Amino acid sequence: MNLTATESTTVGLLPAAGPAPVDPLDPIETLLALGEEAMAQRQYERAYDLFSSAARIDARGGRFRRQINRAVRALVPRWHFWMMNDSERNQAYSRAIQQVVGEGQLVLDIGTGAGLLALLAARAGAEQVVTCEGVDVVATAARDIIGRNGYADRVTVVPSLSTDLRVGVDLPRRADVLVTEIFDCALLGEFALPAFRHARRELLTADATILPRGGRIFAQLVESPQLHCLNHVGEVEGFDFSPFASLTSMEYFSTILTNYRYRALTEPVEIFRFDFSEDQYPAAHTVEVVPRENGIAHAVALWFELDVADGVTLSNSPTDETSHWKQGVQTLAAPWRTEKGVPLRFWAAHDDVRVLVGRADEGRVGG
Ligand SMILES: C[S@@+](CC[C@H](N)C(=O)[O-])C[C@H]1O[C@@H](n2cnc3c(N)ncnc32)[C@H](O)[C@@H]1O
Repeated sequence: MNLTATESTTVGLLPAAGPAPVDPLDPIETLLALGEEAMAQRQYERAYDLFSSAARIDARGGRFRRQINRAVRALVPRWHFWMMNDSERNQAYSRAIQQVVGEGQLVLDIGTGAGLLALLAARAGAEQVVTCEGVDVVATAARDIIGRNGYADRVTVVPSLSTDLRVGVDLPRRADVLVTEIFDCALLGEFALPAFRHARRELLTADATILPRGGRIFAQLVESPQLHCLNHVGEVEGFDFSPFASLTSMEYFSTILTNYRYRALTEPVEIFRFDFSEDQYPAAHTVEVVPRENGIAHAVALWFELDVADGVTLSNSPTDETSHWKQGVQTLAAPWRTEKGVPLRFWAAHDDVRVLVGRADEGRVGG
């Protein structure tokens, strides 16, 4: 095997001047080189395991922290921290869990993250909590946090996707309560609907309580050349860059709307409503809005309201400046003209995961 290491294998901190030859008989060098190779191939879990193995057998100890951290950074998005510090979100879930979780119950928590909802369920009196996490390093951290807080006897962390869980293997029986927070800025983007559907079919009792109960997605047309510039380009220094349009995002991306200059041209309109105890939802329909302004709509802002439990609602609307959730923004390749008071129709569609809107007279693209 002819391996090369792209990072210094001695100090483990500063990059070497160039790829250094690897001694194939040195297990640490080999593990590090394979780790770098895995990083280059975007196999971050594998890179993490390889760097961690190198660190474990390294007699000098403490080296390779930077390599391990680079793999961790690729595996764990920064929003985890902001999310855990979003006290409005945390308190909403805490109140809701106290409302629905009681003694003798088996609670399933999908997407444990650092373990917050599982801990809240255990503290609320659940007999047992099974919580799962699709990212191994996050699951390991959650296990540590749950143990540190004294709940290891009642909370089991399973390092897997919920869709791989099995009753009789990972859960002793079907769960009485499902708690979860797997929502992106436009509600569906973290595969919440498929996870609910699978859980209802395979992991929950027929009358299980589902928390949150449901959610709604809102859209608002906004005028903002600045937002349009985030996803479109024309002429640059006298050159025609229009072919770059093939690389623009058709769907929304997340951004903080209020970081940009924008003018709302319509009131927010509800485009989808989901009851998470249902399996079937409309996937597309036509929406009519009456613009409150003349203008040019460059983008559609998207956000949600989440019905966590009775009287407990969370939202990431642009007016909620404390939420860690940003807004979804779908820019419009060909901006729409709005006339005050003249109804404008557009279609809204989702494929269970991503939301897309388009002009009613332009036809629908995809599902
Ligand atoms: C938005 S975070 C919420 C974490 C935690 N429940 C909380 O509220 O603080 C969602 C976490 O769920 C994980 N996740 C998302 N969908 C999952 C699924 N279907 N099965 C297991 N883990 C999932 C993600 O990797 C992420 O760590």
